Amino acid sequence: MSPIEQAALNIRTRAVAPFSKFLVGAALEAADGRIFTGCNVESATYGLTICAERNAVFHAIAEGARKFTRIAVAADTAKLTPPCGACRQVLWELCGDIEVILVNPAGARESMMLRDLIPRAFDASFLD
Ligand code: THU
Repeated sequence: MSPIEQAALNIRTRAVAPFSKFLVGAALEAADGRIFTGCNVESATYGLTICAERNAVFHAIAEGARKFTRIAVAADTAKLTPPCGACRQVLWELCGDIEVILVNPAGARESMMLRDLIPRAFDASFLD
């Protein structure tokens, strides 16, 4: 198992998910090899909940990373959990066409490119 897959599995145990009980971890690898992690953090308002993937991206940006190669997403589901629509959009805009690796603690793994998760994406190129 690669370091980002292990990091995603580990950080999911830090999730604050008292409402859904659904723990998610994400680990984003920067072009310079640094790994930035995130977990989901829920709000009693529900709507203010942040997903693990966006938490990882914003963590990375705050630490000064701007180029990324791949992200691993870990959840406990047998059917591997993919990023939600909001996270796909944010990942596309801030990371570009990175590899997305889905894993679970049982050892299942699947890899895909972000372009296949968000076809015909809207992004800053439309604002030119
Ligand atoms: N969640 C994530 O963190 N990432 C995903 O890819 C799917 C959903 C979180 C949001 C919420 O805290 C819980 O999982 C249930 O939707």
